[in-house]
Amino acid sequence: MSAKPSRVALLGGGVIGAGWAARFVLNGCAVRLYEPAPEARARAADVLADARAAYEQLTLAPLPAEGKLHLVDSVEEAVTGADLVQESVPERVELKRELLAAADRGAPSEAIVCSSTSGLRPSELQAEMTRPERFCVAHPFNPVYLLPLVELCAGERTAPATVERAEAIFRAVGMQPLVVRSEIDGFVADRLLEALWREALWLVHDGVATVEEVDDAIRYGAGLRWAFMGTFLTYRIAGGDEGMRHFLRQFGPALEWPWTHLTDVPELTDELVETIAAQSDAQARDRSPRELEQLRDRVLVRLLQALRVEETGAGATLAAWERELLATTPPRLRRVPPEWVDYNGHVHESRYLQLFADATDALLGSIGVDAGYLAGGGSYFTVETHLSHLRQLVAGDRVEVTTQVLDSDDRRLHVFHVLLRDGEAEPVATAEQMLLHVDTRNGRAVPACDPVRERVAELTQRHAELPRPDRAGRSIGVR
Ligand SMILES: NC(=O)c1ccc[n+]([C@@H]2O[C@H](COP(=O)([O-])OP(=O)(O)OC[C@H]3O[C@@H](n4cnc5c(N)ncnc54)[C@H](O)[C@@H]3O)[C@@H](O)[C@H]2O)c1
Repeated sequence: MSAKPSRVALLGGGVIGAGWAARFVLNGCAVRLYEPAPEARARAADVLADARAAYEQLTLAPLPAEGKLHLVDSVEEAVTGADLVQESVPERVELKRELLAAADRGAPSEAIVCSSTSGLRPSELQAEMTRPERFCVAHPFNPVYLLPLVELCAGERTAPATVERAEAIFRAVGMQPLVVRSEIDGFVADRLLEALWREALWLVHDGVATVEEVDDAIRYGAGLRWAFMGTFLTYRIAGGDEGMRHFLRQFGPALEWPWTHLTDVPELTDELVETIAAQSDAQARDRSPRELEQLRDRVLVRLLQALRVEETGAGATLAAWERELLATTPPRLRRVPPEWVDYNGHVHESRYLQLFADATDALLGSIGVDAGYLAGGGSYFTVETHLSHLRQLVAGDRVEVTTQVLDSDDRRLHVFHVLLRDGEAEPVATAEQMLLHVDTRNGRAVPACDPVRERVAELTQRHAELPRPDRAGRSIGVR
């Protein structure tokens, strides 16, 4: 059974809550969002639109039908019937505790309750819950619908089964859970980000680099490696053939050198804040936050797709999620239903013609014979079919039909179909068909109109490079 939750309750629909809404809705979950601010509600629709556009580019795997997003007026309404409650309100411990306790009172006993907190300890957050064992932190990264990492952290009173269930849930919606082994402020990722952030602030404070130069130092170099190797693997490779040991021996002593202010935080004086803010404005070059977010998404999609090709880093997570989606709904392949099987125990002959006719329809659709073209009176009629039954099909077989255009002119379209069982090279059946372009208003053969005529010619030219099928041009053989 899939761990994917059917119903998700979201508390807070800001940057993170809206991102969660998009991830769950696009994974087919019904989402109820409790968000009191009207402007945040409107933004959730924008984020969902952006996420939809991103997913269309991100994967060719068939996504489930979108879940419904309902905006509701209370915590109770949101959590009723939910399998998962995810809280994403501002980082204030009292506010979070209060909401989590209310969610705990209203959610079904089998639901788990998570918080998106970036750094508050789960033991503090679960303090006022009646059933604290079903709570853990699930800390995501912005944009939640694209970045796979979610850090899971248990509090003192969290049951291990809660974390296990959270792991399965987030994996089922295409994420990469990282279970934090002990409860620490900032978990793992924000500890690392904080260290980098401190050093970056010092570099600007000391006038060593501008904000742009600090970002350049990351994005053109190590940042690209971090996306798929992290830090330890990067250094291991830097150690050459002898790996990490050599690297540590060679560069370890450098850690003693006064390169860093890491344990010290620069005072955020008005002057420093002003310097950073001004440099950051210049860096944005008048682009709005939305424009920058959309640019970020486009680039992340390309990066994730590139990583997926090698199945490395976040690309491996994407590949695993796609495999899951493809297993649920194979795209090209059709499954032979049991009702197609006749008294001989194999698929009835009429179904072969149905498969080939569907392939012809798909071909016609792809060359522009659509509702508009048909309404104008143009269409193709099949005037001859030669079907060869070569092997038997049985219920449950997964099949696909490939189609080759053998020849064409303004009126005629001569095609050859091959029916293949998944994973086999030998055809199960072939069909050769002649189609005639007709004016459906009087039933007469007439030349096809553009763009259909042009597309047929183009396809014929391309397919002429393919080898001619052995069985093309055969009639019924008498041996
Ligand atoms: N922004 C990030 O990059 C990021 C990343 C990971 C985790 N987080 C964590 O996610 C949480 C939310 O952060 P955010 O960046 O989305 O903040 P945000 O300010 O964008 O959104 C918080 C939302 O909560 C709403 N809210 C306030 N009181 C509420 C209440 N009583 N009930 C329901 N909703 C209420 C606000 O109207 C707002 O829309 C925080 O705990 C934060 O630490 C943020």
